[in-house]
Amino acid sequence: MTTPNPTPVTIPSTRSDRSSLHPEGSSVEEDASSFLGWMSNEDDTSFQSSLSDDTCMPRSIIQEGIPEIDRLNEQHYMIKHVLGGQIHLSPMPLPPSGPRSILDVGCGSGIWLMEAGDLYKNAQCTGIDQTTEFIPSSIASGRFHIVEADVQEGLPFPDDSFDFLFHRFLYVGAPNLDWDEYFSEAFRVCQPGATIEVVETSGLTCRQGPNTQRIQSIIETSVLLDARKSRRVVSQIGKCMNRAGFQDINRHIISIPLGSWGGRVGKTALRSVMDILERAKPVILAQNASLSEEDLETLFNEYTVEVDQYRSFWNISIYVANKPRD
Ligand SMILES: C[S@@+](CC[C@H](N)C(=O)[O-])C[C@H]1O[C@@H](n2cnc3c(N)ncnc32)[C@H](O)[C@@H]1O
Repeated sequence: MTTPNPTPVTIPSTRSDRSSLHPEGSSVEEDASSFLGWMSNEDDTSFQSSLSDDTCMPRSIIQEGIPEIDRLNEQHYMIKHVLGGQIHLSPMPLPPSGPRSILDVGCGSGIWLMEAGDLYKNAQCTGIDQTTEFIPSSIASGRFHIVEADVQEGLPFPDDSFDFLFHRFLYVGAPNLDWDEYFSEAFRVCQPGATIEVVETSGLTCRQGPNTQRIQSIIETSVLLDARKSRRVVSQIGKCMNRAGFQDINRHIISIPLGSWGGRVGKTALRSVMDILERAKPVILAQNASLSEEDLETLFNEYTVEVDQYRSFWNISIYVANKPRD
């Protein structure tokens, strides 16, 4: 075993990043509200980066009217970019050693899995998702395996199968998942000494203006996301991991700007949010009889202006932990 790579928490300070890592989130015992506070003052001060125009973000990933697969891929590159070019924060032996058997739960388009396989060339790479709709069929060959299954039914793998289990934004896709059951399954399929890395977000816009608050409340009443629940779920993931048996649990919080004030990352993140809102339009309208499509359109437009006025952002939480060796 060799030098750990990448180093958790540290992002090169010389880069003009659009994000900031919050090392204070390193203890799962901390009350999450002390550093993740939707509609609380902490959020207003927790964005630490000084933003300037970004030259590192590939222009090619910025597109208009993107379908879901492209949105997922664009989001992947945006997050990779804010992590300083890394696809995970967990310390790993340097490639080409590193993990031998990787599982990506809720792998979406498979973009993270493909990159992980590219980085760790000796690894067997398995992705599981309830739908393979977004995954190019060409992925599933050689070292790459795709399993179509509902993780709410458990993880269909033998005990001790993987030495790196990753998932990102599973909560958004499976808000009713029983997290204790899920992590106990994750623990079961992980080998002793395995690493688990979980990337989640409550999806809430931090530093809200009045229109943002209105959209937030419309979304909540339209059953898309219960803000309090999503915030609670994300902040308690560390405790669920702990109950499942994982140890050395660390949480890092990364702020991603929304809007032009955040340069290309901010524009990309806002476009992703607007894309999701656009898709949610029919549900929102069906659930809010007093709201016309025109009203909603106006609200959306005001939101895009407001995120710049309020320098809004969203937080993602990255939990990293290990399964004990014995
Ligand atoms: C927001 S997408 C994230 C995709 C990918 N992890 C990424 O970060 O690009 C959520 C993914 O979780 C999958 N998903 C949601 N519920 C699931 C379930 N119960 N079982 C398996 N996959 C699920 C969805 O199909 C979707 O691909």
